[in-house]
Amino acid sequence: MATQITDRSVLNNGVEMPWLGLGVWKAKDGNETVAVRSAIEAGYRSVDTAAVYGNEEGVGEGIRQAGIDRDQLFITTKVWNADQGYESTLKAFDASMKKLGLDTLDLYLIHWPVKDKFVETWKALEKLYRDGYVRAIGVSNFHIHHLEELKKHSEITPVVNQVEYHPLLTQKELHAYCKERSIQLEAWSPLMQGNLDHPLLVELGQKYGKSPAQIVIRWDLQNEVVTIPKSITPERIVQNAQVFDFALSAEDVEKISALNENKRFGPDPDNFDF
Ligand SMILES: NC(=O)c1ccc[n+]([C@@H]2O[C@H](COP(=O)([O-])OP(=O)(O)OC[C@H]3O[C@@H](n4cnc5c(N)ncnc54)[C@H](OP(=O)(O)O)[C@@H]3O)[C@@H](O)[C@H]2O)c1
Repeated sequence: MATQITDRSVLNNGVEMPWLGLGVWKAKDGNETVAVRSAIEAGYRSVDTAAVYGNEEGVGEGIRQAGIDRDQLFITTKVWNADQGYESTLKAFDASMKKLGLDTLDLYLIHWPVKDKFVETWKALEKLYRDGYVRAIGVSNFHIHHLEELKKHSEITPVVNQVEYHPLLTQKELHAYCKERSIQLEAWSPLMQGNLDHPLLVELGQKYGKSPAQIVIRWDLQNEVVTIPKSITPERIVQNAQVFDFALSAEDVEKISALNENKRFGPDPDNFDF
């Protein structure tokens, strides 16, 4: 269980990924730069962006402004759906790296399992990995059947599956499947996109002297799920990292998990049209 912000999950290829990172979806117009710099100053070492967020340049700028050694940071970006396919993924990767201003990437993800395309896309990721441009490759929004399909046609197991995961969507079966195969589960929208006013989370916040957001982030960590809460508010960025000085009881972890309603704030990966 993570006990400090520097703690990392050892991925299935030996690369180490921080348990806590900053998400930057919808952060733009310079907010992403301030958020990334504030997060690194607060001790974060991991940032999650994507080509489709349109903020890779601003994220790169935040990294440079923070002035920290590149090898201490763990940067993730993702290939967008319209760019899937072998050659187009290689091109999209180049474009992302230019925008970020980086020579190597820590983690490159397939953003969504685009039907009839994700296997070819994965082959491009395998090439980028073998050629040393990216330290680890993974997927996002993959159900078990997508992972099974990928396994049939690929040589490298994804290090990570980044999926929607929070108290209302605990993905129990997928989590167990990934765990068995050493695929690290990573939570997107861990804070339920700000919908944190659930009575149990408020009650546990009072019990532990923490905010509902901190309770949920701690719950992720205790479930061994990498988590990337998004905020552009410097105080919240700091607050979301103050989760290493307390532990939820096993009983409270279970109570939070029991909130599951299989409720999604985003689309089901079997039914998305973008
Ligand atoms: N792979 C995918 O398909 C996918 C999909 C969605 C998201 N993601 C990734 O996951 C990251 C996180 O998900 P998300 O951005 O959807 O939402 P989220 O992290 O669940 O929630 C972000 C919202 O919570 C607010 N917030 C942050 N800290 C708070 C706190 N301590 N107290 C109260 N409110 C707080 C933020 O407000 P302020 O910013 O105004 O402070 C923002 O409105 C994304 O940024 C992105 O990197 C990936």
